[in-house]
Amino acid sequence: MYYSLIFAGSLFLLKLVVSRTRLVSGINSCSGRVQVLYDGTWGTVCDDGWDLSEAAVVCREIGCGDAIEVKSSAYFGEGSGQIWMDNVNCSGNESALSKCEYHELELNDCNHSEDAGVICQSVMRLVEGFDDCSGRVEVLHNGKWGTVCDYKWDGSDGAVVCKEMGCGNIKVLTYGAYFGATSGQIWMGNVNCNGEEASLSTCAIQGWGTHNCFFAEHAGVICGLPVRLVNGNSFCSGRVEVLHDGQWGTVSDDGWNLTDAAVVCRELGCGDVITAKGGAYFGQGSGPVWMNSVDCVGKESSLIQCNIAHWQHNNLDHLHDAGVICSEQ
Ligand SMILES: *[C@@H]1O[C@H](CO)[C@@H](O)[C@H](O)[C@H]1NC(C)=O
Ligand SMILES: *[C@@H]1O[C@H](CO)[C@@H](O)[C@H](O)[C@H]1NC(C)=O
Ligand SMILES: *[C@@H]1O[C@H](CO)[C@@H](O)[C@H](O)[C@H]1NC(C)=O
Ligand SMILES: *[C@@H]1O[C@H](CO)[C@@H](O)[C@H](O)[C@H]1NC(C)=O
Repeated sequence: MYYSLIFAGSLFLLKLVVSRTRLVSGINSCSGRVQVLYDGTWGTVCDDGWDLSEAAVVCREIGCGDAIEVKSSAYFGEGSGQIWMDNVNCSGNESALSKCEYHELELNDCNHSEDAGVICQSVMRLVEGFDDCSGRVEVLHNGKWGTVCDYKWDGSDGAVVCKEMGCGNIKVLTYGAYFGATSGQIWMGNVNCNGEEASLSTCAIQGWGTHNCFFAEHAGVICGLPVRLVNGNSFCSGRVEVLHDGQWGTVSDDGWNLTDAAVVCRELGCGDVITAKGGAYFGQGSGPVWMNSVDCVGKESSLIQCNIAHWQHNNLDHLHDAGVICSEQ
């Protein structure tokens, strides 16, 4: 963002810095609609001139891998609020989007149907876990996968991993050889995330490959979705509600059956499923209908691993809110 100042007969260009970039509404924190933080307010980026070189800069800035796909025309849904940047033009090797050329707010002719997005390569994996959302943490650096030392491994570090994997919230931190031991490269030590990072690779560390760990001292996680059952007659029955973007919302009953409901019972530690309910059986919820067309295989330990139409405001009403009754043990 540039402001022109005429001062003592000279023209100065003052650049007001966009301080942070993040991706929202994608399947993990390495994909989604681009948001930039300017003056304390998150806003979007217009897709005019939005191409692979701009996408590559975003992926680098947030600590994900290469840009895999460039998305335009609000592919990840329309944002709201300010459109902070337009006509972004990067050479491709800048360290942050704010270092590229762009037009400021006042000059753009965009609306949110043109919000820019990107899908970056993930540089993290969870190994030898129960499912896709648990396991030993491994990160890709310099083309090689390596582990994370569990010294000082804590909740804000685990939160970043779960978010980066698109696996919801951290439920359990694991240490040592809980998910098996490997003698390979140890990439990160003394990891100290503040919890806001999009990628573990941008958290404070001792230095790549520098650590105080010996064999089989591995950081690991078990992630899941914040889920609750509302308006039933116990903790283990009611309308299914999930927390996303800081807001509780419901699940549509479209395709909702025993297989899907069983995953919720398992996730809550509520035993087996007895009945899957639709048609707002436990009353209509409020807020967004976060999930639609949920389709679980049945082995998932968290609803977040099922196939779902992700987190969109589908203009769905609460007449079709899904519910479940679990056996409680
Ligand atoms: C982007 O910037 C480069 C270098 O300044 C310039 O040559 C190019 O024409 C610009 N591209 C667009 C689409 O503005
Ligand atoms: C980016 O790449 C261009 C072309 O390869 C090069 O001229 C330029 O110096 C690079 N800029 C930075 C900041 O590395
Ligand atoms: C938004 O911009 C697009 C592309 O310029 C245009 O087709 C569309 O009509 C605009 N929508 C609104 C609501 O202004
Ligand atoms: C639930 O629906 C899915 C997808 O349509 C199907 O594969 C599965 O067999 C159904 N489960 C039950 C218990 O009917």
